[in-house]
Amino acid sequence: MSLQSELAPLVSAAIEAALGAEFTGADPVLRPSQFSDIQVNAALGLAKRVGRAPRDIAADIVGHLATDGTFAQVEISGPGFINLTLAGDWISNQVSAMAADDRLGVPRQDTQQVPIDYSAPNVAKEMHVGHLRTTVVGDALARTLEHLGHHVIRQNHIGDWGTPFGMLLERLLEVGEASEEARLLESDPNAFYQAARARFESDDDFATRSRARVVSLQAGDPETLRLWGGLVELSKHYFNRIYGALRVTLTDADLAGESTYNDDLAAICAELEAAGIATVSDGALCVFLEGYSGRDGKPVPLIIRKSDGGYGYATTDLATVRHRVRDLAADRILYVIGAPQALHLNMVWDTARLAGWLPQSVEVVHVQIGNVLGKDRKILRTRSGAPLRLMALLEEAVGAARAVIDEARPDLPEETRAAIAPQIGIGAVKYADLSVAHDSEYVFDLDRMTALTGNTGPYLQYAAARVRSIFRAAGMGPEQARGRIVVSEPAERELALELIEFGEVVAHVGTALEPHRLCSHLFQVAQAFSAFYENCPVLKAAGPQVQGSRLALCAVTLDVLVTGLGLLGIDSPEVM
Ligand code: ARG
Repeated sequence: MSLQSELAPLVSAAIEAALGAEFTGADPVLRPSQFSDIQVNAALGLAKRVGRAPRDIAADIVGHLATDGTFAQVEISGPGFINLTLAGDWISNQVSAMAADDRLGVPRQDTQQVPIDYSAPNVAKEMHVGHLRTTVVGDALARTLEHLGHHVIRQNHIGDWGTPFGMLLERLLEVGEASEEARLLESDPNAFYQAARARFESDDDFATRSRARVVSLQAGDPETLRLWGGLVELSKHYFNRIYGALRVTLTDADLAGESTYNDDLAAICAELEAAGIATVSDGALCVFLEGYSGRDGKPVPLIIRKSDGGYGYATTDLATVRHRVRDLAADRILYVIGAPQALHLNMVWDTARLAGWLPQSVEVVHVQIGNVLGKDRKILRTRSGAPLRLMALLEEAVGAARAVIDEARPDLPEETRAAIAPQIGIGAVKYADLSVAHDSEYVFDLDRMTALTGNTGPYLQYAAARVRSIFRAAGMGPEQARGRIVVSEPAERELALELIEFGEVVAHVGTALEPHRLCSHLFQVAQAFSAFYENCPVLKAAGPQVQGSRLALCAVTLDVLVTGLGLLGIDSPEVM
């Protein structure tokens, strides 16, 4: 349900009736208008084809517009715009139907199998704000696609394999698996990583042992694998602490790290070589693809087996494509990954297409994640210049939210403020990640994102809490306010017109993979609610009928805000 989708067929029918069958299906060119609810701009584009003045055509279309009570006013303006003002009854019917629908007008799309690759932090390393953003965006897409009826398969492609594991495992052996230093992997993984790196760089013996350890690991030596398993396990605790704090839906069952593809890599290389797609160049097995050349004009290879026999990032990603198409029966695959990896992904996909692992019928999408910057517009760091610890950043966000709520609501009991601060702080961080286009950069600014005003998560949470407080004061639950909605005041009208767009916006997020559209919509709903609340008394409404209608409008608003925030992965506190 949306204004466009409801009105387009009506206007198209009028165009056909006015101009003849050859205009069947002509685009009515519906646009938002300053002067009415919506504007029809088709007459201008059709003028040439029809050979008549646009104003004339507009009048003809208007003459054929069904007069079944949809419009309160129809006016032609300027060179041939048609301004449509909807009848209050029509709006009332639409929003009442939405209130009666437990899906709030959100369609169910034909179910697709959708593996989503997101989060993907690296073992024994700190997650950075880039990982934070792919986690938050990927999780919102997963929730939204599931709500639209798709079968989402979360794929957390953690970096759990490769040469650094030699030194990491040697360090783990040296300090002991139960040592305090090993426990750092759960809380401050970079500290562990740095210690291993320092040993590697300063002690030749250690470096030699580390190199031998990589060989044992790749050869599948049982003791080395056991030790590696322990290291990964400690890292999982770290990831899960972050995921828990962020309230994302990822669990251990979604882990599909690089190592899970180890057994596929040799076969992938053999198959590509046998098919003539890969060739040996300077000892390395490479794929040379058309259309990829460097600045010097020389072709850029996708290296799938290094000259020392090792496999890298490209080979495991070829394995992800093959696995997701063949074993997960994917219809659509999303890679929610940093924008700079576009070249890598395109080369992997082109290779997979050549190999027949990625048929045309399967859509692959790189949901590009833009950088998160500090206030200096450089990569975000702490004030001291050290790389940021994500857990510390999240704690800081919760602290900032606590300060905001302490100031705004000192009357709330201490336990309540303590309980809602994480919902607000984490909601603020997530909303900041989601409310700008996922491929654009933005500046991480805790003060701005935790503010109760402006396009922020807390502002939306506050709007929802305000609606809840109306129901508390009314002594009833929102589910009891299900009467017919009759809009008459301009502010009621505006709110209702905004609300009925919800279903279409959610569907659009699923198709175009743009959560920021849902953010803007919810922001507009919250603003329209605020204007409504200022202008239209609810509990002191003139008469039970008006009151019933306004309470029902409040209930739909609450449903839209809570459901919409939920699809973004953001909680709605009961009070605020
Ligand atoms: N672990 C990688 C990183 O931290 C991201 C992996 C993304 N997923 C993938 N299939 N390549 O940069």
